Amino acid sequence: MNAVIYVSKCGNTKKLADAIAKGAGVKAQSAANAANLTQADILFIGDSIYGGRMSGVLRRFLQNLDRKQAAKVVVFGTSASGKSIRAEVTSILEPKGIPVAGEAFHCKGSFLCVNLGHPNAADLEQAENFAKQTCKAGL
Ligand SMILES: Cc1cc2nc3c(=O)[nH]c(=O)nc-3n(C[C@H](O)[C@H](O)[C@H](O)COP(=O)(O)O)c2cc1C
Repeated sequence: MNAVIYVSKCGNTKKLADAIAKGAGVKAQSAANAANLTQADILFIGDSIYGGRMSGVLRRFLQNLDRKQAAKVVVFGTSASGKSIRAEVTSILEPKGIPVAGEAFHCKGSFLCVNLGHPNAADLEQAENFAKQTCKAGL
């Protein structure tokens, strides 16, 4: 069984989470309500960049994540610059023995008057395909 967990303050990453979840054949769950997460073969984790970093909500979720809850993690997200949260996620999870896939899905998210309309339909289609391929490959 796979799972999709996300944080989204303004809604952009939630759109991506829903597309990733569609591709993975599951329902996306907010990190704030994911206390009952059981063993996931692939745990997709999504967030954005706020002030150069991932959200505090995701950081706490990752700090509390146990190795038994996720065999491996695949990261996705949005940001104004296209910057990825993967390095931060890896720095918390790999010391606990939870592997983070090298491949991740990121796209630009709208912020003020930048990247208006993103993630758009094409971004969401790519995200869904990324999840389908990732699950098929068992990355
Ligand atoms: C308070 C705040 C700070 C942000 N800081 C950054 C930043 O440092 N770098 C960046 O690339 N994007 C930054 N952004 C843009 C967000 O990463 C982008 O809008 C993202 O798509 C928001 O995702 P969400 O709608 O799921 O919350 C910031 C947005 C907000 C609201």
